[in-house]
Amino acid sequence: MQELQLLLVLAALVLLSFLSPATSCTEQEKSSLLQFLRELSPDSSSKFSRSWQSGTSCCSWEGIACGSNGTVTELSLPSMALEGPISVSIANLTGLRRLDLSYNSLSGELPPELISSASVAFLDVSFNRLNGELQESSPSLPHHPLQVLNISHNFFAGEFPSTIWEKKSDLVAINASHNTFSGALPSSFCISSPSFAVLDLSYNLFSGSIPAEIGKCSSLRVLKASNNEINGSLSDELFDASMLEHLSFLKNGLEGELDDGPLADGPAHKHTHTLFYLQPNSKQIAKLKNIVVLDLGSNNFIGDIPGSIGQLKRLEELHLDYNRMSGELPSALGNCTNLKIINLKYNSFRGELLKLSPRIGNLKSLLFLSLSNNAFVNIANVIHALKNSRKINTLIIGTNFKGETMPEDIPITDGFQSLQVLSIPSCSLSGKIPLWLSKLAKLEVLDLSNNQLTGPIPDWIHDLNFLYFIDISNNKLTGDLPTAIMLMPMLQPDKVATQLDPRAFEQPVYAGPSLTYGKNNALPAMLNLANNELTGAIPSEVGQLKSLTLLNLSFNSLSGQIPQQLFDLTNLQVVDLSNNHLSGSIPPGLNNLHFLTTFDASNNDLEGWIPAGVQSSYPYDFSGNPKLCDPTLTRTCDSAEAPPVSTLTGEETTPKIVFAIAFGAFFCLGVVYDQAVLSRFFG
Ligand SMILES: *[C@@H]1O[C@H](CO)[C@@H](O)[C@H](O)[C@H]1NC(C)=O
Ligand SMILES: *[C@@H]1O[C@H](CO)[C@@H](O)[C@H](O)[C@H]1NC(C)=O
Ligand SMILES: *[C@@H]1O[C@H](CO)[C@@H](O)[C@H](O)[C@H]1NC(C)=O
Ligand SMILES: *[C@@H]1O[C@H](CO)[C@@H](O)[C@H](O)[C@H]1NC(C)=O
Ligand SMILES: *[C@@H]1O[C@H](CO)[C@@H](O)[C@H](O)[C@H]1NC(C)=O
Ligand SMILES: *[C@@H]1O[C@H](CO)[C@@H](O)[C@H](O)[C@H]1NC(C)=O
Ligand SMILES: *[C@@H]1O[C@H](CO)[C@@H](O)[C@H](O)[C@H]1NC(C)=O
Repeated sequence: MQELQLLLVLAALVLLSFLSPATSCTEQEKSSLLQFLRELSPDSSSKFSRSWQSGTSCCSWEGIACGSNGTVTELSLPSMALEGPISVSIANLTGLRRLDLSYNSLSGELPPELISSASVAFLDVSFNRLNGELQESSPSLPHHPLQVLNISHNFFAGEFPSTIWEKKSDLVAINASHNTFSGALPSSFCISSPSFAVLDLSYNLFSGSIPAEIGKCSSLRVLKASNNEINGSLSDELFDASMLEHLSFLKNGLEGELDDGPLADGPAHKHTHTLFYLQPNSKQIAKLKNIVVLDLGSNNFIGDIPGSIGQLKRLEELHLDYNRMSGELPSALGNCTNLKIINLKYNSFRGELLKLSPRIGNLKSLLFLSLSNNAFVNIANVIHALKNSRKINTLIIGTNFKGETMPEDIPITDGFQSLQVLSIPSCSLSGKIPLWLSKLAKLEVLDLSNNQLTGPIPDWIHDLNFLYFIDISNNKLTGDLPTAIMLMPMLQPDKVATQLDPRAFEQPVYAGPSLTYGKNNALPAMLNLANNELTGAIPSEVGQLKSLTLLNLSFNSLSGQIPQQLFDLTNLQVVDLSNNHLSGSIPPGLNNLHFLTTFDASNNDLEGWIPAGVQSSYPYDFSGNPKLCDPTLTRTCDSAEAPPVSTLTGEETTPKIVFAIAFGAFFCLGVVYDQAVLSRFFG
């Protein structure tokens, strides 16, 4: 019995020794850490004065972890608002495996001893203010264990070193994005590090061409070099990096064709896509068989999209926007059935999207399609082909289809069931606002501006429960401003709460260079009906559009008075009523609009006085109203016509309330009210 108890105590002791922070760190380690602390700014070091005490084992200090034998293996102090330099004394921690000082304000150089340390495998100093060139100390060791180096979001400059990676055969990832490195793209990693997988060099000043050595990166999965000054063409060797899943050279100066294999220069290339199916393996881009994201937007690429792209079965995102590419889209694109995002805007693609094959409509995963600013034809075909795409949430196809007619008889019962953004501006489309739009139950953003659409604004518009951004300006729409549009559910906050399906906002909408928004609900609530042929008065129901921030009714033939209810819309930032036939006086309450950046009522027939507190200068414009009197005397009126003080500021309701309170106080409570207040209203 006693023996058993002894055994239990012993077992407990053994267990405790595992749980407690082992044997303590050495004096040498302790002094290295305290030296690091001393070199930080006084503010930063005082943060640890309680935790980092020389009398205790440093293994229990905040941000420190030790191995089982008590060696310091980890120093992890992200987001501690640390300032000052990184002390070289850290390099004396001979068991340190992991160093994370990200999201601080550390400055100075990164000690070269850390990069060529004999122990550090993970080094993250991203999001700091480190500067200087990246260097390593004398590379005397035969092997450096560094696996991950993250120096992104700093001020490092100069050429990216190339030789220092030779002894780092364990290297897996380098993230040097968001610095100001210049010179040639580094490429030697892959020769010495067979497992090298992630290289992020985006947002730097790298120039020159893509080095051939990249092709030797047999494990490279991610290569991001967007926003640099890289030029030349896609090197043949690049396509040998066949494990690539994510390739981004967005915003560089790359040129040439995507696929300049032997066939590309042949005369048949431009028009006969069938050639590619005969010799699919001769095309290089098909070698990137693991590619998921291909982002080559904003370069100078020419030529067409090779049909061999159909072999990229894992492709989810294809960005070729802002290039000089041309030709028709290959039908084989429809073979990339995992495509979620296709962004081809601002090129010279032409032809019928689907003449070759209707398969593009079968891209079951498609969420985002932008084809705007090309020379595509046959809009009816595009709408027909895509209407059954169940997931598509964004369709941006403006500046195409020049002079065609808006397709009207599209049978959509259950189509476009996820569509949130529909943008078809600047196509010179004739016809009416089509009825099938009323079936787009999830629609939030509609842009049909700059077309030749005629007929009235349909009443069914307010059936679109989620629509909050409407641009149908610059058309030839006629008829009255319908009351229906003033009842848009999404623009009325009291109804939004009950009707809004939160899932409607879940799918992020791609932020492209022209429609720059992350989620589409970041767009302002807007009603832009400008430059049409609309007549009649502005309905007083305009006062229901409580969420509206931007209202443009300019360049129409609207008449009648400005409804006072307009000034109930306190979220308004931009109001343009200019170039209509609005008459009567300006109703009180304009001062309620505190967020105004523009209020333009110029070129109408308004009369009376411009309200006090409001001048005919920024952000207000009342010019071109000959009958309007301006208190700033830019246009004088007979002073006898000057309005009484109480109506000047649109606060005429306030005195009534004050009077009621005063009256009540005076008579009901029997309190002698300040006669001065009363006399101000009776006197
Ligand atoms: C770090 O080690 C070097 C030599 O190995 C020594 O001179 C220096 O004093 C040490 N620094 C600290 C803070 O321990
Ligand atoms: C402690 O263990 C590490 C490996 O985790 C080893 O590198 C180091 O030499 C050991 N230190 C001592 C003092 O045993
Ligand atoms: C730095 O980059 C590495 C490798 O890509 C990554 O694991 C780490 O999370 C990054 N650090 C931050 C703060 O993003
Ligand atoms: C590089 O670091 C930045 C900042 O932490 C991050 O946004 C980016 O995703 C990283 N790149 C890779 C390829 O992990
Ligand atoms: C690439 O840019 C460099 C300057 O950075 C220039 O010297 C070189 O001629 C350019 N190469 C090509 C192919 O345009
Ligand atoms: C695309 O798919 C069709 C039908 O499955 C096939 O006949 C054609 O060869 C494929 N094209 C490419 C380029 O993969
Ligand atoms: C309103 O629309 C017209 C016509 O498109 C445009 O000229 C004007 O600048 C717009 N007003 C504002 C304030 O943006």
